[in-house]
Amino acid sequence: MKIMVINGPNLNMLGKRNKAIYEDKTLAELDALLRKEGESLGVDVVSFQSNSEGALIDFIQKNSSQASGIIINPGALTHYGFSLRDALADSGLPVIEVHLSNIYAREEWRAKSVIAPTAKGQISGLGWWGYVAALRTLVGEPKKET
Ligand code: DQA
Repeated sequence: MKIMVINGPNLNMLGKRNKAIYEDKTLAELDALLRKEGESLGVDVVSFQSNSEGALIDFIQKNSSQASGIIINPGALTHYGFSLRDALADSGLPVIEVHLSNIYAREEWRAKSVIAPTAKGQISGLGWWGYVAALRTLVGEPKKET
């Protein structure tokens, strides 16, 4: 099983960027943490980051057929990235949208996500843990009681 972890514009600056909001882990540290979590869950985690919407779409189109799910923090594209939204919907894969910060507790324009309607769910405001929770969810852990 392969899970894509995709980060959009400016998330390459994690660790330097507004640490009070985005915490102090770098993207490389976050990717390493998720790869390790993936190993313990028995899944391959493939990470990708770009500041360009087209590159994110190319990556999704190229890799969707071999993947089982997508975890994406679209950065500011969350709020207006319609082409990205279409690519995610076209992938046919379960998508979990993650935000480090609580987008509902910040500026008003951040409270709108054009990605969320195509997603299985959204995690916002739990910091790096949100990515781990998304990964465990896509892999099926914790098992839900029926
Ligand atoms: C973000 C929230 C977005 O509004 C912002 O543009 C980002 C990061 C988050 O992780 O909290 O770049 O997606």
